[in-house]
Amino acid sequence: MALKITVIGTGYLGATHAAAMAELGFEVLALDIVREKIEMLERGETPMYEPGLEELLRRHVAGFEGSSGRLRFTQDWAEVGAFGDVHFVCVNTPQKHGEYACDMSYVESAVASLAPHLTRPALVVGKSTVPVGSADRLARTIAALAPVGEEAELAWNPEFLREGFAVQDTLHPDRIVVGVRSERAETLLRQVYETPVAEGTPFVVTDFPTAELVKTSANSFLATKISFINAMAEVCEAADGDVAKLAEAIGYDDRIGKKFLRAGIGFGGGCLPKDIRAFMARAGELGADQALTFLREIDSVNMRQRGRMVELARQELGGGSFLGKRIAVLGATFKPDSDDVRDSPALNVAGQIHLQGGQVTVYDPKGMENARRLFPTLGYADSALDAVRGADAVLHLTEWREFRDLDPAALGEVATDRLILDGRNALDPELWRKAGWTYRAMGRPTA
Ligand code: UDX
Repeated sequence: MALKITVIGTGYLGATHAAAMAELGFEVLALDIVREKIEMLERGETPMYEPGLEELLRRHVAGFEGSSGRLRFTQDWAEVGAFGDVHFVCVNTPQKHGEYACDMSYVESAVASLAPHLTRPALVVGKSTVPVGSADRLARTIAALAPVGEEAELAWNPEFLREGFAVQDTLHPDRIVVGVRSERAETLLRQVYETPVAEGTPFVVTDFPTAELVKTSANSFLATKISFINAMAEVCEAADGDVAKLAEAIGYDDRIGKKFLRAGIGFGGGCLPKDIRAFMARAGELGADQALTFLREIDSVNMRQRGRMVELARQELGGGSFLGKRIAVLGATFKPDSDDVRDSPALNVAGQIHLQGGQVTVYDPKGMENARRLFPTLGYADSALDAVRGADAVLHLTEWREFRDLDPAALGEVATDRLILDGRNALDPELWRKAGWTYRAMGRPTA
C-alpha cells in the first residue's frame, strides 16, 4: 500500500516539500499552526515568491479544477497522527534574538504536539536545520510520549534547497542524506525517495549526528568559499589585481570549482549567516570551538564587505559625506529570483548610506513590498530607470537578470553622473564603459 505523508510546518521548506511529495504521487496532509498560511496555500498561493511553486501547488491542492487532489491541509494534530506513515517536520529554526544560537522552540513544540497522537506505526523525519544533538533529544520525546511505543521512531533528513530553486532542488536533489537508527526507518525513506534515487540521486545513510552536521557543514563550506574570494578581493584591491580573473583562473582547477566564487557584498538571507553562527555556538557548547574559530572570521569578512561597499561609494563620490548625494540602489533582496530581504546585504548597504545622509532610491524586481516594510524610510522607485533618474551614483547590489539586460546608454541619459558601482561583480564592465560610465567594483582594477 502506498505510504501516506504528512508535512508539519508550511513555510518555505514545508510548502515546497508537501507539494513535491504530492508530485511524487503520495497522498499528503500538511499542518500549520497559523490558519492564514493554510488558507493561502489552499488558494494555490504562497506568501513568498518562488518560481514554479504556485503552479506545483495548484497541480495538487485538493479543490482545484484539474488538480490531483493529493495535497490537503489541516490544523488537527489527531488527524495528522491518524493519517501519516511518515511525518516530515519542516518548521523553522531562526537565530535567537541577540544570540548566535538558533531557536529550537518550534521544532520542539512540533514534535511534542505530534508525539501523543502517534497511535499507529510511524516515522517522524526531521528536515529542519538544527544544532547537532537535537535529533537524539527529539527521539527521546517521541519515545516518552507516543502511545504506539517503539513503533514510532525518528529519522533525520536534512534539506539543501536554495531559494529561487526550491522546487527543482526538492524534486531533483544533488543527494539525499538520511540519519537513521533502524533498518525499518531506512527502508521507509528509500520508499519515499524511490523516484529521485531511481534517477541516479546518491542516497547517503548515516547516524543522527552526522546527518545533522552534513547540513551545517555544507552551508559553512559555501560561506567559506564566498568569504575566501572576498578576502582575495581585498588583497587584489591593495595590489591592483583583478579578483574576477583570479576566481576564473583558480576555478578551472576542479578541486576548487567555479561556483560560489563571485566576490562582492557577500552572503545574506535566512540560512547561511544564521547557520554558521548557530554552528559556532553549538561547537562552543561541545567544547570543540577551536576547530571552528575560522568561521568567526568567515562571518566578519562577510559583514565587512558591506561597509567596504559603502566606503567605495563614498570615495568615488569625492570622499566627503553622502549629504546631498542621490544614490540609486538596484536590488533589495539577498539574491536574485527571490523576494526575501532577510539579512540582505543590499538593503544593509542602502540603509548605511541613508543613515549617513545620502538620498537613496531603491528598485528591486520582486522585493519592493518586503523592503518597504523593513526599511520604510528609504526611497523607492517603480523601475530601474526611475531609480537612476537624477542619481549621482548607481549601486548594483543584487544580481537580477533584469539589471544585466539594462541599456547603459538609456540609463546614462537620465543619471546626473555616469558612475556605476557593481557590488556583485555581475555586470559587463566594457558595456558600461563604452556607454560613458565609470565602472567600479570591489577587487577590480579601475580601468
Ligand atoms: C543556501 C544554500 O545554498 C542551500 O543549500 C541551503 O539549503 C540554504 O542556504 P540560499 O540561502 O537560498 O541557500 O542562498 P544561496 O544561493 O546559497 O546564496 C547565499 C548568498 O550568497 C546570497 O546572498 C548570494 O548573493 C551570496 N553569494 C553566492 C555570493 O556573494 N557569491 C557567490 O559566489 C555565491
